[in-house]
Amino acid sequence: MTTRMTERLRGADKIRVLFVCLGNICRSPAAEGIMRAAVAKAGQSHRWVIDSAGTGDWHVGELPDERMRAHARRRGYDLTHRCRQITRRDFADFDLIVGMDDNNRRNLMRLAPDDASRDKIVMMADFFSPGAPVDNVPDPYYGGPEGFELAIDLLEDATAGLIAALT
Ligand code: 4NP
Repeated sequence: MTTRMTERLRGADKIRVLFVCLGNICRSPAAEGIMRAAVAKAGQSHRWVIDSAGTGDWHVGELPDERMRAHARRRGYDLTHRCRQITRRDFADFDLIVGMDDNNRRNLMRLAPDDASRDKIVMMADFFSPGAPVDNVPDPYYGGPEGFELAIDLLEDATAGLIAALT
């Protein structure tokens, strides 16, 4: 995010953020749920519009992956998002499009309709605390339970960083 963008969003009445991953059933709906809880806790719900989408369309209409829902529920997050694929319109409707890994970034850059849209693309890792163990939010879909726990740890850290950056 450019300094100019950060300053503009800090002064904005509303900040519209779209979290994006590949399938929109693991990482990005978890990011959405965690972000909602974090802004509510900070008393900032009125200030944020929060949604998520996938670059792929395999799971459209589905609830998040049962494993992610179970891991999130244990930390108090109820994930009820229905999977949807990102559209061209999302690049106009949102201020920030937040990808989870390099594959998401490449897909988003390809899908973005213009320069203004490309400028909105940022990475979740941009908001990690110093000393974070990884430099992206790895896809937990094909792995074991530890991948889901790591994803939630990283998303909790990054959502706090994102709120702090724009407050
Ligand atoms: P996500 O994980 O991108 O974090 O939602 C995935 C979910 C589904 C698939 C890939 C990744 N899939 O290939 O169906």
